[in-house]
Amino acid sequence: MSHPHPSIDPLLPATDLATWRERFRAARRVVVLTGAGISAESGVPTFRQAQTGLWARYRAEDLATPEAFERDPDLVWSWYAGRREKVLSVQPNAGHHALAALAERAPELVLVTQNVDGLHQRAGSRDVIELHGSIHRLHPFGLAQPDVDDSVDWPQPPGEQPSRDASGRLLRPSVVWFGEALPERALAAAIEAAERADVFLAIGTSALVQPAASLPLLARERGAWTVEVNPQETALSGQVDLVLRGAAGQILPQLVAALD
Ligand code: OAD
Repeated sequence: MSHPHPSIDPLLPATDLATWRERFRAARRVVVLTGAGISAESGVPTFRQAQTGLWARYRAEDLATPEAFERDPDLVWSWYAGRREKVLSVQPNAGHHALAALAERAPELVLVTQNVDGLHQRAGSRDVIELHGSIHRLHPFGLAQPDVDDSVDWPQPPGEQPSRDASGRLLRPSVVWFGEALPERALAAAIEAAERADVFLAIGTSALVQPAASLPLLARERGAWTVEVNPQETALSGQVDLVLRGAAGQILPQLVAALD
């Protein structure tokens, strides 16, 4: 039986909103790091939540590794095809839309996501840095994780087996698998943004997977004011300046409204 989150008052304390407003208005550069939690309210399962999380029911090494794909390409292909159909069937939620609205109010806002679902882009966010790639793109198995430009779209319908490129190479989802390197340009851009951030928001991430989990700490070391938005305690909670304990879809619209 999964324990519901302790009852959280959805309204943020006025003092937190005042601090947020002051810090945001003084910031030249805002950086946001999101994780699976921001898509939870769209109905997309996170990875590590007990019972409902993807990795609570499957062994990641059986599905999200190059070895798994070599061992059983059809299984891995169909698992990602199913996950992709799921994300295409849901809508961005108020949290995604709030971040797109926030970008309109900041001199500069850099959105870095660990998510591969493309929901930030569908909510209108632009230039999203996809640290862990995208479930909507494919590339030849065996080649390095591509940055956006050299990848292939999924066939429609996806079929039961991996499709092949013109030279006959098996295609695989352009999602970073365990043990794989992150897309180089995306990681470099995310690190550079974190180093120059005045305000850094970590939203919906358990902060367990490197190097993404280090970005908020890097920003803080360089003087950024850091915020966590998460209904649960995480590895980050004790290291940020402000913890907003609650759901992204309830908290982020309040952060935007506080700026009006
Ligand atoms: P996790 O599943 O590890 O963590 C999800 C976080 O979201 C948890 O801390 C939850 O408490 C929080 N959460 C749940 N509902 C929320 C809500 N409504 N609003 C805000 N937060 C909420 O997912 P990630 O931290 O994203 O890597 O996992 C990081 C990486 O591990 C993923 O990108 C994936 C996985 O292996 C790759 O695919 C390479």
